[in-house]
Amino acid sequence: MSGRSEELSGRVALITGAASGIGRAAALRFAEAGAMVMCADIDSEGVKLTAELVAAEGGKAASLQLDVSDEVAVEKSLQQTIDSLGGFDILFNNAGVGAADFDLTLDVNLKGVFYGLQYGGQFLAKRGGGAIVSTASIAGLVGLVTPMELGEGAFAQPGGVAYIASKHAVVGMTKQFAIAYAPYGVRVNAVAPGYIETPMTEMIRDDSVIQAEFESLHPMGRLGRADEVANAAVFLASDRASFITGVTLPVDGGYTAR
Ligand SMILES: NC(=O)c1ccc[n+]([C@@H]2O[C@H](COP(=O)([O-])OP(=O)(O)OC[C@H]3O[C@@H](n4cnc5c(N)ncnc54)[C@H](O)[C@@H]3O)[C@@H](O)[C@H]2O)c1
Repeated sequence: MSGRSEELSGRVALITGAASGIGRAAALRFAEAGAMVMCADIDSEGVKLTAELVAAEGGKAASLQLDVSDEVAVEKSLQQTIDSLGGFDILFNNAGVGAADFDLTLDVNLKGVFYGLQYGGQFLAKRGGGAIVSTASIAGLVGLVTPMELGEGAFAQPGGVAYIASKHAVVGMTKQFAIAYAPYGVRVNAVAPGYIETPMTEMIRDDSVIQAEFESLHPMGRLGRADEVANAAVFLASDRASFITGVTLPVDGGYTAR
C-alpha cells in the first residue's frame, strides 16, 4: 500500500456508514494509517465491498451489517468488532442520512450518533481509553442558505430542519461526552464537512448551475472530497491529537469562516 503512515498502527477502528462516500474513504485511509477496520453499514453488500477494497490495498478489514438507529445492535457491534479483529480503540460515528424524513433523520443522525457515543465511550473507558470521532456538518455550526434553483427555504422544510437539528446535536453531544469521558482517556471530537462529492450530494452535482452555486458558497471555490474529510478524522483519532477533545473541526473550504 502506498503512503502508509502508521500513525494508527495496531489500532482497531469501527467505522459506521462505511459502504459509501466519506465512510468508505475513511476505511481506506484508516487502514492506510495502519488501523484494522470494521466496516459497518445498513447496506451489507456495500460494506463487504469496502472491506474488499481495504484488503486489496493490503489492509485488514471485516464488515458488519449495522443499523445505527438500533440501540441494541450498536451496543453489540462493539463486542463484534473485538471478536472479529481482536480489539477496539477508535469509533468513527459517521453514518447519516441527508435531509430526508423528519423522524428518520433524527433516528439515524442524532440517536445513532448518541448510541455510538454512549456505548462506544463506556466501552472504550473500560478498556483504558480511545478516541471517538463523529461526523457533524457545516449544518451543525450554521444555518444553510438555499440556492435559488432549489426553491426558497428548502432547508426550512421538515427534513432540512431535522438535518440541521441533528447535526447541531452532534456538535453538542461531542462537547458533553468529551467532558464525561476525559477522565477515562477517551477523546471525543467531530468533523464538520462542507459539501462533499459523495452520493449524498449527487442531486447538487447533477445540475451544473446548482453545482456552481454550491461551489461558490465555499471560499475555496469547490466542493470537498471524501478523502479530505477522512484525513481529518484520522488526525483526530490519532495520538497527534492527544490534547484535543470536545472540538468540531470544520473541513469545509472556508464555508463557516465567512
Ligand atoms: N456529503 C456531504 O456533503 C456531507 C456534508 C456534511 C456532512 N455529511 C455527513 O457525512 C456522513 C457521511 O455521508 P456521505 O456524504 O458519505 O453520504 P453517503 O450517502 O455516501 O453515505 C452514507 C452511508 O450511511 C449509511 N447509512 C444510512 N443510514 C444508516 C443506518 N441507519 N445505519 C447504518 N448506516 C446507515 C448509508 O447506507 C451510506 O453507506 C453523514 O453523516 C452525512 O450527514 C456529508
